[in-house]
Amino acid sequence: LSKKDFMNKKVLVTAGPTIEKIDPVRFLSNRSSGRMGYELAIEFANRGADVTLISGPTNLEPPTTINKIVRIESAEELRQKVLEHFEDSDIIIMTAAVSDLRIKNYSEQKLKKDKIVNLEMEKNPDIIKELGKRKRDGQILVGFAAETENLKENAMKKLKEKNMDMIILNDVSRKDVGFEKEENEVTIFTSKEEHRLEKNHKRIIAGNICDVIFSTFF
Ligand code: C5P
Repeated sequence: LSKKDFMNKKVLVTAGPTIEKIDPVRFLSNRSSGRMGYELAIEFANRGADVTLISGPTNLEPPTTINKIVRIESAEELRQKVLEHFEDSDIIIMTAAVSDLRIKNYSEQKLKKDKIVNLEMEKNPDIIKELGKRKRDGQILVGFAAETENLKENAMKKLKEKNMDMIILNDVSRKDVGFEKEENEVTIFTSKEEHRLEKNHKRIIAGNICDVIFSTFF
């Protein structure tokens, strides 16, 4: 039987990629499988939390232990749903791999080849940054950082700039862990502490992350 560490806590987890539609047949997205976020949502639910999972398109089975699963596609949809649930959440974990860019003008018609070489793009809103500004005392905001270089430096910069309480660093230059993989190896940073987690199945990593959140904030 699992520990009920997070009994009576409301936890919001985002997972998976976002997709930005170009025309009826094309979109922009990324390699996120959603697995890390799903495992975290499952782990929090096992430990007694009231979990809402906001998910981009993935091939994963919807976890049977989570009754609140909200589907989104674009970053803007994700933003709307996150803002709807934010006030009411004690712990917010932004595992979703939000597309940095979106298409400026969606085309109702399939674009011809000469049009798609010059697509106009714009930046998506930075959702976690917005949450960092709205956060009230007692709310815990956790983000992820997928980096290929200057790992710690980039993670610490994001932690500070986006007013997160904790950031979980993934080295995505490695082929054996992270995106699209069953296993992960991460380092967790708060402004004061650093916890290195050994390479392991994402379910075990999710459990370790829950343990660190519990010991740090509760
Ligand atoms: O893309 P970046 O590495 O800055 O992402 C770090 C964190 O910010 C992640 O937790 C991600 O979910 C979140 N993010 C976001 N909105 C964006 C981009 C990233 O909330 N537009």
